[in-house]
Parts: sequence; C-alpha cells; structure tokens
Amino acid sequence: MYQVIAEVLSNKNITLNYFKITLNAPEICQDAQPGQFVHVKVTAGYAPLLRRPFSIHDTRDENLEILYQVVGEGTAFLSQKEKGEKLDLLGPLGQGFESKENFRKVILVAGGIGVAPLYFLAKRLLNHDSKISDQAPLKSCHPKIIVLLGAGIRKQILCAQDFKNLGATVKIATEDGSWGYKGLVSDFLAETLLPYSKPDLVFACGPLPMLKKIAQLSRKYRLSSQVSLEQRMGCGIGACLGCVVTSPEGYLRVCKDGPVFRVNQILWERL
Ligand SMILES: Cc1cc2nc3c(=O)[nH]c(=O)nc-3n(C[C@H](O)[C@H](O)[C@H](O)COP(=O)(O)OP(=O)(O)OC[C@H]3O[C@@H](n4cnc5c(N)ncnc54)[C@H](O)[C@@H]3O)c2cc1C
Ligand code: FES
Repeated sequence: MYQVIAEVLSNKNITLNYFKITLNAPEICQDAQPGQFVHVKVTAGYAPLLRRPFSIHDTRDENLEILYQVVGEGTAFLSQKEKGEKLDLLGPLGQGFESKENFRKVILVAGGIGVAPLYFLAKRLLNHDSKISDQAPLKSCHPKIIVLLGAGIRKQILCAQDFKNLGATVKIATEDGSWGYKGLVSDFLAETLLPYSKPDLVFACGPLPMLKKIAQLSRKYRLSSQVSLEQRMGCGIGACLGCVVTSPEGYLRVCKDGPVFRVNQILWERL
C-alpha cells in the first residue's frame, strides 16, 4: 500500500453524472489487482474529513483510471478537479477478484456504476495476464467472457463498447427496456443464462439487492461467485471497523478482508 500525491491528467464527464478521472500514480499501478480500490482525499482541506473509496477501473502504464458517479459532496468535489491538480491517494487497498481455476466460461455482472472494477478484471482475464493468478492454466485456455451490464436507463449503461473491444460478449438489461432485456440484470441472468449453461465463475459488483440475488442464484445453481461490496468506509485500511459485514465465522472488514468476497463468506440476511 502506498500513499501518493497523484497528478490529475484528465477528468471527463462521460454521460449524465458519470465521470472518468485519470491520475498519474506509478506505484499504485504497478501493484494494482482487479477488484482493489484506492482511498481518495477529495480536497486538500479537512472537509469532507473522510477519504472516499473508488475501485481501480483501469491501469495504463503509470496511469490509473477511476470511473465514478457523482452522488454527494465528496464525488462533487472530485468532479471539479482539473488537469494538473493533485490528489492524495492510498492504494492499492483490499483483496481483489481471484481466479485460480482453469475456467472456460465466466460471467461478469455489473449493476450501474458497479461496472467500474469489472473492466480491469475483464482486461486481465482476456489478456490471459498472469497477474490475476499465479497458476499456469489461465495462460493455456481461452475463456469466454460474458459481460451483463444493467442500469435503469440506456444512458446509464457504461463501457459496453470498451468490453466489446476487449473481445467480451456484452449483453444489456435496462429497467425501462430502452436497451436490451427489460428488467433487472439479476433477473436477466436468472432467466436467460443460468438455466441453460452454467458458468465456471461469476464476478459481480452493483447495488446490494443485486448482489443478494446473485448469492441466491449461486446457491441454487452451485456457482462459484465472487462479489465486490461497496460498504461505506472510514479508514479504508482495516483499523476502524466501520465497514464490517457478518460472515459465518464472525466479522469481516470490507476494506481489508474484501471488498471482494466469495458469496458464501457473507451472511446476506444480516446485510
Ligand atoms: C470498495 C469500494 C469501491 C467503490 N468504487 C466506486 C467506483 O468505482 N465508482 C463510484 O462511483 N463509486 C464507488 N464506490 C462508492 C463511492 O465510494 C461512494 O459513492 C462515495 O464515497 C460517495 O461519496 P460522496 O461524498 O459523494 O457521497 P455522500 O455524500 O457520502 O453520500 C451521498 C449518497 O450516496 C450514498 N453512498 C455513499 N457512499 C456509498 C457507498 N459506499 N455505497 C452505497 N451508497 C453510498 C449515501 O448513502 C448517500 O445517499 C465504491 C465504494 C467502495 C466501498
Ligand atoms: S473502513 Fe476502517 S476498518 Fe474498514
């Protein structure tokens, strides 16, 4: 884990209230794994006091990308950062997605801004990049990656073309039916994909109800699934216990033990 003062290279409004910020952060990029996050001090002063956590969306050489939605004070401050300004970052933090199996078919499920960590994951999986696994099989197979992107409306669907450019199969669900399947992305998964062909792995990030549904489906279809939880955070480094969730063995800190967990590590009824 590093604390770095990173220069803002760009900060673009991509659609609606969604932004992509690119930061020069060589140390963090060098160690970053898909599913890990950075804890960002969004102003130089004391307000807001707490850092804000954001998934690592991508790394390109020394540059780190964060894809974010403006939802409140902290993200509004972040959206005002301009090229050349500096941001204090801690990272890479937490435990990312794991893939130690010789898999053939993987489904990535994104609800809204939950797409943020999944692009970096897809990129690593499709590049057969050994950084995600220390085992050889990843390099010897050609996995099929299906990405399910879900959102309320068409304009909230992010990164569809980026995933296609990687070689992934992209399927869309919108709640208003303006693009693809009409309904929730978790129902899309349940109705159209799982009954016919079981994936080796499911990776998901999105709102809690979506993740709960994925946990249910994982039990029903005996899937090996990992989810990234977006719990509110304090310290981000395991010290304050502000982010704990309950597991069968006791409490788990989302910032340190997660944010990515296997679905059976979590007592979902307590969330
Ligand atoms: C590990 C992790 C990775 C994350 N990655 C991303 C990312 O890549 N892109 C992104 O846009 N967001 C991400 N988030 C969520 C992001 O941290 C929050 O949206 C941000 O902290 C909100 O700050 P704010 O000051 O703008 O909002 P606040 O003023 O603090 O809150 C505004 C509203 O957002 C809600 N909210 C705030 N934080 C969260 C949260 N963690 N989960 C659910 N609701 C919340 C509040 O309840 C409130 O309704 C991630 C969170 C975690 C824990
Ligand atoms: S945020 Fe402090 S322990 Fe997780």
